[in-house]
Amino acid sequence: MIRRIRPTLNEALLSFVLVVRRSAEMLRLMETPEHRQRLRDPDSTEYTQQPEYARDAWRSINAEYFVVIGICTHLGCVPNFRPEVAPEDLGPAWVGGYFCPCHGSRYDLAGRVYSGVPAPTNLVVPPHHFHTTTMIEIGIDYEDAMQSGKG
Ligand code: FES
Repeated sequence: MIRRIRPTLNEALLSFVLVVRRSAEMLRLMETPEHRQRLRDPDSTEYTQQPEYARDAWRSINAEYFVVIGICTHLGCVPNFRPEVAPEDLGPAWVGGYFCPCHGSRYDLAGRVYSGVPAPTNLVVPPHHFHTTTMIEIGIDYEDAMQSGKG
């Protein structure tokens, strides 16, 4: 359980940060070959979209907790969090994620964008680290926090 979030992002971005707790079943569904082949960048190879420590399938330090900036990479709208599996309006292949109703962009629960939608890249994962097991500091990497004495 996360008890506290210590934000160090600027105010404008802070209001768009999402922290999502993902179940083991959510993580399993995101890694099936059928799901991965629907994604544009399943391994987070686009360097600008996340820190180095979040460049994996889960795009997180701790797979259970996902920290992301909820701003669509198409034109900057706010995608809806849709964690349910196969809802009628999103179809049987939907494994949970973020849906941007503006132009129909889709992201999975790691913010990885689907192929064939307007958004060009995965959602942005901001710098962050676990200050303690129950506190995430968002906006600063662990090394930077240590150097500044905030770690
Ligand atoms: S702004 Fe999200 S799909 Fe266009």
